[in-house]
Amino acid sequence: MKKHIVLLPGDGIGTEVIQSANEVLDVIADVFNHTFTYETHAIGGCAVDKYNNPLPQETEAACHKADAVLLGAVGGPKWDQHPSHLRPERGLLGIRKSLDLFANLRPVKGFSKLLHASPLKEELVTGSDLLIVRELTGGLYFGQPSERQNNGESVVDTLAYTRKEIERIVDKAFQAAQLRRKHLTSVDKANVLESSKLWREIVEEKKAQYPDVTVEHMLVDATAMKLITKPTYFDVIVTENMFGDILSDEASVLTGSLGMLPSASLREDSFGLYEPVHGSAPDIAGKGIANPLAMILSAALMLRFSFNLKNEAAIIESAVEEILNEGYHTADLQVKNGQRVNTAEMTHRIVEYIKSESTTS
Ligand code: NAD
Ligand code: IPM
Ligand code: MN
Repeated sequence: MKKHIVLLPGDGIGTEVIQSANEVLDVIADVFNHTFTYETHAIGGCAVDKYNNPLPQETEAACHKADAVLLGAVGGPKWDQHPSHLRPERGLLGIRKSLDLFANLRPVKGFSKLLHASPLKEELVTGSDLLIVRELTGGLYFGQPSERQNNGESVVDTLAYTRKEIERIVDKAFQAAQLRRKHLTSVDKANVLESSKLWREIVEEKKAQYPDVTVEHMLVDATAMKLITKPTYFDVIVTENMFGDILSDEASVLTGSLGMLPSASLREDSFGLYEPVHGSAPDIAGKGIANPLAMILSAALMLRFSFNLKNEAAIIESAVEEILNEGYHTADLQVKNGQRVNTAEMTHRIVEYIKSESTTS
């Protein structure tokens, strides 16, 4: 199979973990006889520095032409004081919107070797396996107006959704639930927000189309509590953009580290942008110690969802599981009696496992 992939390393550890995903994809291509070609483009802070634009036009155009996109992370203290339109995060929001990637799937599944690495009690985390379906191109991040008013005396951000935007993400979530344990939790703040009331109505309307899925509504504050007191309760969670952002970082605690969570940003066709849930981690950037597994697992999601390469995705996931089982981990994970390795070593071990598996099978 021949596929063209755009790489958007971005800033901080984004550049480090993209390198790891690239190495893993190269070995997959080798072993399974595929041709993956790559093109690297600037996004985020590095693009602000070079082009005075967090989403240069050529980056956007290249993504539109690609079969899939892999994104590292954007942002960092260097750009924190920039005006909104010159913030790295604008580049990320811009590319998601431009590509119409409204469905962000964030699977949260603990690897057995890491159950004790969570600060939560091991017996509580054991068996947790959930999927957060986060709406990605609407809500508070994109609603207009969003501005300072009255000479900075007041400010407004707008949480806006259309019926169509809610319907399509709710459909995605129901469909995801059908492929899993068939339980959907729709998370909102319907006791306060008008947008949440419409969200609830639409979920209620839609449920007749998915009779095999049980559905419930849960308020976001209660969900935040239940996620870490009874995580095994959840199967699929669907929620608006900002609630999904916050809940997914919280849910990463189940896995032992934010550096473990991959994500897929999808639309109706098979195209997708794949990005770890974590950010550019300025506190560890440049040290070569970032956990590359969220990025590597995001590449596996790309193989599965965009290229339908299920075996190839599965071998990457097995490699991650196996290397963790052997006790190797990066510094972000508190593993008992494990062996701490850096980004390059972790990547190397994944690559070697894939090579060895393919010669024995
Ligand atoms: P962050 O996710 O970058 O880091 C939070 C903490 O988790 C840090 O202590 C960091 O060291 C650790 N961490 C995250 N990923 C890790 C990994 N792979 N390996 C080891 N440790 C890891 O969040 P932040 O510090 O709040 O944000 C830093 C910058 O990143 C900000 O500019 C923010 O806007 C941006 N950000 C970007 C994305 C993205 O590009 N998708 C996502 C989140 C945050
Ligand atoms: C994420 C990030 C982004 C978001 C930021 C950097 C804009 O936190 O992908 O989770 O909030 O979507
Ligand atoms: Mn986030």
